[in-house]
Amino acid sequence: MFTGSTVAALLFAFSLLAFLYNNNWPRLGSGLVRSGRDEQREIKAPERSVNEAAARRNTAGSAVRSEKVGISGDRECTAAPEARFDCARDRTLTRGECEERGCCYGPLSGSAGPPWCFYPRSYPGYTMGPLSPTTRGQTATLTRKKPSYLPKDISSLRLEVIEETTGCLHLTLKDASSQRYEVHLPGGIPESSADNQSVFYAAEYQSDPFGFIVRRRSNGRVIMNTTVAPLLFADQYLQMSTSLASSLVSGLGEHYTSILLDLNWTSLTLWNRDMAPHADANLYGAHPFYIVQEEDGFAHGVFLLNSNAIEVMLQPTPALTWVSTGGILDLYVFLGPDPQSVIRQYLHIIGYPMMPPYWSLGFHLCRWGYTTSKTTRRVAQSMHDANFPLDVQWNDLDYANKRRVFTFDPWRFGDLPEIVDEFHQRGMKYILILDPGISSSSLPGTYPPFDDGLKRDVFIKNATGHVLIGKVWPGPTAFPDFTNPETRTWWEDCIRDFHSKVPVDGLWIDMNEPASFVQGSVEGCPDSDLENPPYTPRVVGGRLNSGTLCMSAQQKLSSHYNLHNLYGLTEAYATHSALKNIRRKRPFVLSRSSYPSIGRFSGVWTGDVRSDWEQLRFSIPAVLQFGLFGVPLVGADVCGFGGDTTEELCIRWMQLGAFYPFMRNHNDKPNAPQEPYVFGQKAQAAMRTALNLRYSLLPFLYTLFHHTHTSADTVARPLFIEFPTDPNCQSIDKQFLWGSLLLISPVLEEGAVELAAYLPRGTWYSLHDGQPFYSGGQYLLLPAPLDIINIHVREGHIIPQQEPALTTTASRRNPFFLTVALSAGGWARGDLFWDDGESLDTFETQNYCYLIFIAGQSQIVSELVKLNGDLDGLVLGGLQVFGVPSPPRFVLANGEKVGDFTYRTDTKVLTVTKLALSMSEVFTVQWTL
Ligand SMILES: *[C@@H]1O[C@H](CO)[C@@H](O)[C@H](O)[C@H]1NC(C)=O
Ligand SMILES: *[C@@H]1O[C@H](CO)[C@@H](O)[C@H](O)[C@H]1NC(C)=O
Ligand SMILES: *[C@@H]1O[C@H](CO)[C@@H](O)[C@H](O)[C@H]1NC(C)=O
Ligand SMILES: *[C@@H]1O[C@H](CO)[C@@H](O)[C@H](O)[C@H]1NC(C)=O
Repeated sequence: MFTGSTVAALLFAFSLLAFLYNNNWPRLGSGLVRSGRDEQREIKAPERSVNEAAARRNTAGSAVRSEKVGISGDRECTAAPEARFDCARDRTLTRGECEERGCCYGPLSGSAGPPWCFYPRSYPGYTMGPLSPTTRGQTATLTRKKPSYLPKDISSLRLEVIEETTGCLHLTLKDASSQRYEVHLPGGIPESSADNQSVFYAAEYQSDPFGFIVRRRSNGRVIMNTTVAPLLFADQYLQMSTSLASSLVSGLGEHYTSILLDLNWTSLTLWNRDMAPHADANLYGAHPFYIVQEEDGFAHGVFLLNSNAIEVMLQPTPALTWVSTGGILDLYVFLGPDPQSVIRQYLHIIGYPMMPPYWSLGFHLCRWGYTTSKTTRRVAQSMHDANFPLDVQWNDLDYANKRRVFTFDPWRFGDLPEIVDEFHQRGMKYILILDPGISSSSLPGTYPPFDDGLKRDVFIKNATGHVLIGKVWPGPTAFPDFTNPETRTWWEDCIRDFHSKVPVDGLWIDMNEPASFVQGSVEGCPDSDLENPPYTPRVVGGRLNSGTLCMSAQQKLSSHYNLHNLYGLTEAYATHSALKNIRRKRPFVLSRSSYPSIGRFSGVWTGDVRSDWEQLRFSIPAVLQFGLFGVPLVGADVCGFGGDTTEELCIRWMQLGAFYPFMRNHNDKPNAPQEPYVFGQKAQAAMRTALNLRYSLLPFLYTLFHHTHTSADTVARPLFIEFPTDPNCQSIDKQFLWGSLLLISPVLEEGAVELAAYLPRGTWYSLHDGQPFYSGGQYLLLPAPLDIINIHVREGHIIPQQEPALTTTASRRNPFFLTVALSAGGWARGDLFWDDGESLDTFETQNYCYLIFIAGQSQIVSELVKLNGDLDGLVLGGLQVFGVPSPPRFVLANGEKVGDFTYRTDTKVLTVTKLALSMSEVFTVQWTL
């Protein structure tokens, strides 16, 4: 029985742990640079006595204040409007009702903005008992004498403070007397040097009413202060507020927003929902993590590990309030101190991203409306004939027989297996869509996925224990419960069986919020606390079960009420592991719905974006935010999914999309076509240039993915991560970086042929011609004709590239070349990670090559750090050196004079071609001035 989120306590906890730890949830922790988290647990417990002293001090101090409970008009109610914390979040209150809660009532003009009913300066809450040490930190009990105004208030809580690492403080608040539903993520990776360094944070506690303050120890800055408003903890309503150290806040996805969130009394709901991206809506994924840029280049992050419906209120003081409808408060604070370290500390907890197959970084083409295999074949052929790179051809649900997954239409797609073989022979890959909804209305005995699933009891049940039936594309459908190990085995069997007929190379898991076209189920939902919680966050549709399953639906681990936001993650995990077992190669999964950790198993695309300029522009912050969430393999549908594109928009989108880490052009059925070959010759040429540029940069992109997989670096990177002390970079989200060195400045406006691009301090070279710009940290007006996207290389870096080809299968055999961007002192450095592109765990099993390139003193040399892979027969075909001050007299390659080199005195670029230096041997190229 599932009657509220307190139920099934220990059982859940144990089965969760079993699910995550014993049932093949892949664990990080093998390999050289990673070690088991548990070994690192004995981190020093700093200043316990100081904290206790602080707690005692605060007890005394606040005892006086708490005698007085605020009444409107009282001096307890003098908070400035922008500093008010809402006391009527759950419903609208009259003055009388507000004052009955002990809150202040102060009407204001206008309906938006500060609340009318707000908490007085002191408000009764939990009282904290003494802190006592534990093996990993400290613990205390919190009690409240009088229950709060919320139904099923929980009067006794346990606080646990866990010192995870030097940069990560972990606090949990749970019901002290009974177990509640909790999310357990797989173990992360501890920092290896945590044991004898001093931690970056200091925590202080106020004991009555309970609250805590987290400071950055180095400068005393307050990172969190939860005493600004009361802590509330009831069965279906948890609330905690904190002040913020600055107004520069990013994260809390998935929403249609700039990289910096709007703090002007906005609310963000985290509730996975099938919803085309637009402002003020909860979208497909839930990421309860934010990062704050502090004033001086420091940054910190906060992660609330909670999978219930969450609403976050942002207000201008600046401050933030978390409200969750269940679970526990499980809070991680990451102290950085720089933004990239915050992300790394976060990924230590949720897991580092997977290494994608090399081919998945190529170009992908898809459309809903490739209605036959003949059409699909023709599309790929047209791409080929027009000389456009294409690695992966896709099909949407058109392929399926009566839209049922694990089948293909015998008439329209009868030769699908042959087509996939053809693609493979051409060095291409093939992917199709896989929805979780399993048709439940086929004649018994005719649709094994459902019949077999019923037998094996893999589907989500309704509140009375029958299979819950919703409605998706094929009509009535049942929904697999991926928290059940048996479901994952059944899912793998279904995929194996289908794969034996149609050898797909990856899977596209859509509609996995999960989406349903009926509210809750075909029979509606029962009237219960789970369906109608005391407070429903602002969700599209107004109800939690809108566009999805009943909240009272039962899954193996808990109610759907608790597990809803995890549906896509659990499906991605099941699909990833099935593909891995079946293909024995690196899996490719693309998911629409997401939750922290999904980057370990899957890429994400940003859903049903419209073909318009505004959506083009907002695709950048969307992509960058997923990078912060540990999902580097991400992109928006190039040229837009909904509505007709225009030629100009599609050119600009192909140019920007060439720099999404994941690049797929995907279109909806009724729209004008948008495959590159349908446009005029000039447009095609611009698109071809963009694609060839991307393909030439894939060795570099792949190397960036290696670094995100092994070190949690970001791939598509906001400027503030790389230049945290440059205030101009704080809000930039119309430009971004690949790694630390490639600056992408796309055109995002119709008709524009120039753009103002910010270049951080230093020398930047145009990737196209090596033209240097010496920036003092300033905006430059750059020409941006239709056939060009502005890309700049940062001084001091070397980019490994390869001649492009129509597939990565072909391009991976082409000669490499290097772009060397010399610093003012004439130095540069770069690296290359290389393996066969698709074997499992090549880094972990040491089956890879790793090369470093160093330029200085008029020469470049390679260093073979690791040579255990596929570089045999590959050569360095040439290089271009930016910033060579004067013409070289001659060029030597491995000591021998080179005939083919040019030098341009205007741009100071040295170009060397027609080399054939083996990449698997150390090489030297010198230019003599
Ligand atoms: C940590 O320990 C190592 C080796 O014992 C020592 O070299 C290092 O200085 C220590 N670091 C700090 C911050 O105490
Ligand atoms: C925390 O917030 C309270 C309430 O606004 C304020 O009185 C107090 O000074 C703050 N503490 C710190 C350390 O900033
Ligand atoms: C905040 O929003 C209100 C109305 O919603 C508007 O009048 C006000 O100018 C905004 N403030 C800022 C600083 O943007
Ligand atoms: C569960 O499904 C069964 C069978 O369809 C139905 O009879 C029953 O009313 C449903 N229960 C609820 C609570 O919706």
